[in-house]
Amino acid sequence: MGRYIINGGKRLFGTVNVHGSKNAALPILCACIVNSGINIIHNCPKITDVYNTCRLLEKAGCSVLWEESTVVVDSSKAHFIVLDGDEVSKMRSSVIFVGAFCGRFKRARVAKPGGCKIGKRPLDIHFDSLEKLGIDVIDNGDYIDCVCSEIVGTELNLRLPSVGATENIMLAAVSATGKTVIKNAAMEPEIQALADFLKCIGADIDFCSDGIITIEGVNEFKNSEYTIIPDRIEAGTFLAACAATKGEIFLKNAAPEHMKGILTIFDDMGGKIESHKDGIHCNFMNGVIYPQKIKTGAYPAFPTDMQPQIMAVLTLSVGESIIIESVFENRFGHVPELCKMGADISCFGRKAVINGVPYLEAAEVSASDLRAGAGLIIAALSCGGTSFVYGTEYIMRGYENIEKSLSALGADIRYEN
Ligand code: EPZ
Repeated sequence: MGRYIINGGKRLFGTVNVHGSKNAALPILCACIVNSGINIIHNCPKITDVYNTCRLLEKAGCSVLWEESTVVVDSSKAHFIVLDGDEVSKMRSSVIFVGAFCGRFKRARVAKPGGCKIGKRPLDIHFDSLEKLGIDVIDNGDYIDCVCSEIVGTELNLRLPSVGATENIMLAAVSATGKTVIKNAAMEPEIQALADFLKCIGADIDFCSDGIITIEGVNEFKNSEYTIIPDRIEAGTFLAACAATKGEIFLKNAAPEHMKGILTIFDDMGGKIESHKDGIHCNFMNGVIYPQKIKTGAYPAFPTDMQPQIMAVLTLSVGESIIIESVFENRFGHVPELCKMGADISCFGRKAVINGVPYLEAAEVSASDLRAGAGLIIAALSCGGTSFVYGTEYIMRGYENIEKSLSALGADIRYEN
């Protein structure tokens, strides 16, 4: 158990590098099972969830070598394993190994991941879709078994544009017989990145921006070399830190084209936001944060993964803000912790009402999940005094050395084991 110790109240200044996207790296690493070959993946973030996914690849017989932020995965000797243990129980995204296993081994057995703090997070869309692709899905209590003699392409219309379900379907459908059409598919940049990677290994995918993904199954794949896209949520998190400390920063390697829903809000809040080809310039020196009405949603709406972070900023606005969390049913775990720091927030189901206060106060707070932790760090950076943020194991799942990145911008933050 560790903690971040933060002496806040300092404006952030300077340039910070944005790492590779966690939510692109995870499905792309799973996709390495599909091609039985060598996969050279650049710009991989060094975070717990990536290390966990690499451990599962190794358990399944892949060799995984790191060179700086490049991971070389050789899946030529990959074999079936039961997907269970810590890597699965602690990381829900491991369920997308199922689609890749069904494609490669025609079977998968996965331990049922529990719910988590942000919601029940059922998997019905994943398994209903795999069944429609000709895979027998058998619920054996603690495990779910998937078996098929052949995956047969079909037309799927998702009840919700689920990111994970879309990825699972893609990882199975690339090896199917015939064509699969996914309607109401998730359209996040990380899904586009997975489609790009799959095309790299020889898949035949047409990724349309109107929620339809078409996949013609193939039975030949090849080696790949691919660079992970920048993490739009890490970039947004640094923007929020800049806003909360009324600073001026440059996000190197950020991709503005993936962040329109986020940048609009930062612009409306009073920031001077300039998009460049090599990053984003953000200036909140004028110090005023204007209140916002935000509803999180599937891409390109404002992302749920930025909700705790933007809430931390809005606790300091000059009015009343409203946040509706429409994606997960229980993603306000950070609210009581922000209130400990003097924030004025009331929750009514999926709606949070935030009345801005002139400043927050340093406190000891605990993260309940990854992005809640990011929000608490942002709040701690905004106020003088020493704050302690616990629950660092959640934060390290999604941010590579966040204390190093923020220190590079002048923050006084350190990690203590
Ligand atoms: C992905 O989770 C991300 N994780 C999440 O990021 C992100 O919050 C989420 O997409 C939404 O954008 C990764 O990419 C590893 P969903 P996922 O399936 O795939 C319901 C972070 O902080 N649903 O799009 O689990 C579900 O309960 C993490 O980086 C079903 O009902 O999200 C939720 O309410 C947190 N049945 C909604 O859909 C299903 O079968 C969206 O879930 C699947 C999902």
